[in-house]
Amino acid sequence: MRLSKYLADAGIASRRKSETLIAEGRIKINGVVVQEQGATINIEDIVEFDGIRVGVQEKIYILLNKPAGYICSVYDPYDRPTVIELVKDIKSRLYPVGRLDLDTEGLLILSNDGEFTNLMIHPRYHINKKYQAWIKGHITTAALKNLTQGVELEDGLTAPATVTVLEQDQHSTLIELEIHEGRKRQVKRMCAVVGFPVISLKRTAFAFLTLDNLETGHYRHLNPQEIEHLYKMGSATTK
Ligand code: URA
Repeated sequence: MRLSKYLADAGIASRRKSETLIAEGRIKINGVVVQEQGATINIEDIVEFDGIRVGVQEKIYILLNKPAGYICSVYDPYDRPTVIELVKDIKSRLYPVGRLDLDTEGLLILSNDGEFTNLMIHPRYHINKKYQAWIKGHITTAALKNLTQGVELEDGLTAPATVTVLEQDQHSTLIELEIHEGRKRQVKRMCAVVGFPVISLKRTAFAFLTLDNLETGHYRHLNPQEIEHLYKMGSATTK
């Protein structure tokens, strides 16, 4: 196996960053610094990064139904609850694959596979995400058209979205939005710009994955077919 792939699989860094670490002379194979990019390793080789042995850990992929009030971070300096606390019984260091805001709930993937995470969150890879948003007021046809065609935000025009009205009560509307970009607070900003601020937000789908009957705060492991399918989706769009 190529050394850079081994380092990426071990969660040290992305493949490209691993190549930099190799060039910097920070990687040793069997006690010897290796700086060639094409270096490969065998199963019995001992690999060290900055003098510490690197081991390939089991890869873990979790689908969590995130409750509101949990931050998508491994550590919070303000001591707020983190999503990692919801998967405490998993003894591996997991990272959120992308982010949901503190007050957003719904489908969140957690993993220790850096390559997978990059594929899933890179804007170029176009993974569809579905959100249900309760918004203030009764949405107008003009606002729906605007959301569908693309909204001008501070960081540029959004790609067209698919929007469906699901429900209405006296003062608010429940809409479903499907987007493939993953900009910061994108759904809330889009809705605010068209004049209908979000009251509450839930992600209901990520690619072909949905929450099904998973209760809020609960999680399940992705199965090998799901992982392979996601990898294929990510890789197909990079070509
Ligand atoms: N869009 C938002 O505004 N917030 C989220 O948490 C996710 C998407």
